[in-house]
Amino acid sequence: MTVREMQEEILRLKRERGVFILAHSYERHEILEIADVVGDSYLLARAVAGARENTVLMCGVRFMAETVKILAPEKRVLLSHGGAGCPMADELTPDLLSALQKKYPDAVTAAYINTTANVKAMSDVCVTSSSAVRVLSRLPEKEILFVPDRNLGSYCAKMLPDKIFHFFEGGCPVHMCANGGDVARAKREHPLALLLVHPECVGEVTGQADYVGSTSGIMDFVRKSAHGEFVIGTENSIAEHLEYEFPDKKFYPLSKRLTCADMRLTTLAGVRDCLTGGGEEITLDEPLRLAAKRSIDRMIELGG
Ligand code: 13P
Ligand code: SF4
Repeated sequence: MTVREMQEEILRLKRERGVFILAHSYERHEILEIADVVGDSYLLARAVAGARENTVLMCGVRFMAETVKILAPEKRVLLSHGGAGCPMADELTPDLLSALQKKYPDAVTAAYINTTANVKAMSDVCVTSSSAVRVLSRLPEKEILFVPDRNLGSYCAKMLPDKIFHFFEGGCPVHMCANGGDVARAKREHPLALLLVHPECVGEVTGQADYVGSTSGIMDFVRKSAHGEFVIGTENSIAEHLEYEFPDKKFYPLSKRLTCADMRLTTLAGVRDCLTGGGEEITLDEPLRLAAKRSIDRMIELGG
């Protein structure tokens, strides 16, 4: 079966069985082509409100599917691959967070959306990479315990000098692979290119970037820019998707190491399997769901 034939079969099954497909922008190109909505974590969290279908299939990682279930409990929510997690989200356990909250009793807890439902339930507000600075700037509280991404947290702290930040020393193992040496090499090899990076990158990378933003933010920057060359400092799928969309522009990965193995787990065969009875259904206890929802609702309220 060719890729096109497999995609056509998926689209037929999806129509017949009433399934709404969400895909994170880090997924493979052939997955984005069969999705109803493609975007960053913020956009995907908002998109579920527009789904008329009873089943939602999240092509992404576990915390994204959990977020959909938290926001739309009436839907049957499937995760495209049961093994697709986020190591950064899994690193911060409720016990570790509880210890930090005891250490900083006056701070509000701001959790990156890359967290488990249990951690969200213990947090005051959730943020995504595209909404973090805006949401935190609108919080009336001055003192913030930011978890789990130290790099995104430090970037927010730099943007919001009036706030007091405390951190959990976590981070994305993929984005942390890129360093100042990669930036120096990219600038040497592509002196005319603009450097666009995700805020999960380390400070020595974000500090030298022409633009820092979410996956959707990076793609929108290119769409609006008259520039012809870009070095892309986020998961390498983004450079690949941009090459499809802008064949006349040039895109260079900041580092070949920027590959998220968890996002690669979703395949067309796996998606077809989910549409024919396979896939993992996400379930959450109602008290946990309601507690986690509070922090996401707060983000939406403050993030607009
Ligand atoms: P976005 O918020 O840009 O979608 O990023 C999510 C993520 O997992 C980045 O590594
Ligand atoms: Fe998690 Fe990093 Fe993969 Fe995003 S890229 S899902 S933060 S491991």
